[in-house]
Amino acid sequence: MSYPIVTGGAGFIGSAIVRALLAQGAERVSVVDNLLSGKTENLAEIADRVDLHRVDIRDYNAIAPLLAGAPVVFHLAAIPSVPRSITDPVPSHQSNIDGTFNVMRAAQEGGVGRVIFASSSSAYGDTEVLPKVETMLPNPKSPYALQKVAGEYYGSVFHSCYGLETVSLRYFNVYGPRQDPSSPYSGVLSIFMTKLLERTPPTIFGDGEQSRDFTYVEDVAGLCIKAWKAPASVVSGKVYNAGNGGRFTLNEIWRTLCKIEGVDIKPLYGPERAGDVKHSQADTTAAVRDLGHAPQISFEEGLRRTLEWYRASLR
Ligand code: UD1
Repeated sequence: MSYPIVTGGAGFIGSAIVRALLAQGAERVSVVDNLLSGKTENLAEIADRVDLHRVDIRDYNAIAPLLAGAPVVFHLAAIPSVPRSITDPVPSHQSNIDGTFNVMRAAQEGGVGRVIFASSSSAYGDTEVLPKVETMLPNPKSPYALQKVAGEYYGSVFHSCYGLETVSLRYFNVYGPRQDPSSPYSGVLSIFMTKLLERTPPTIFGDGEQSRDFTYVEDVAGLCIKAWKAPASVVSGKVYNAGNGGRFTLNEIWRTLCKIEGVDIKPLYGPERAGDVKHSQADTTAAVRDLGHAPQISFEEGLRRTLEWYRASLR
């Protein structure tokens, strides 16, 4: 008996997909994770229904037998950071390109039903036009962005050359409970939340007028499962935006968070970060049409839920 597989399933987004699969009726889920950034705590309350394999996607021989025969592989295992890919490009290249190739190859050779690849909105880079639509040419500004674009192209080539069903989803700045705030490479909202609860100012890189289409983690997890179920003739080999379609600046968000907490803390400002994109916003037309994308959580609601989670976890 073979179960859905989530590579990177002990991570922030991966574990949300595991929970969503179980909630939607999967009997068990297999997780492939090297636990470098993933954590077993992320799977704690569902551990009895998860088979955790502590292996690295850079090791083809280790992952191939695990993937063989799976109905679906959600491929999230990666070193997921724009700035880290600039300061330390070798591991990032090895996990995000070589590792992704290994997953696609193992999936194809092992007869996997479909691969859903976690790509990134960073693929678009800086374009004048907003919102960003899948028909735009990719314009990666960092090794990370380029690696995600390469993964998408591998997805479409494994589809066209070998008939493997693949769908790539470009995640737009995912946030929510369980996002690790502890590294300098952590997602900005996880950093903002913990600073707010500690009553210390965050450092905003640049003028704070950069904007992002922040997407709640459960909405992304739901979309991933829809991408598995959508008809192959429509979606296979394709790339879709996985965003909300809105956008908020960092200055606005910090102000909103302060308002929710009833505090007034002025942020610090530092130099703009290398490889940073100015504005990011998804055109969701194709995802709505082909995948039935229907995000449920408004930004304010997502901020509140996430803040409550950090408050509880800091206690
Ligand atoms: C990018 C991708 C996203 C991808 C993610 C992986 C874009 C538009 N988005 O996110 O799809 O999944 O990488 O890591 O390319 N910032 C601060 N202070 C901080 C931390 C961050 O001001 O303490 C700023 C950054 O400079 C940036 C914004 O907040 O302008 C968002 O940063 P971050 O959360 O790291 O994500 P992106 O790099 O935008």
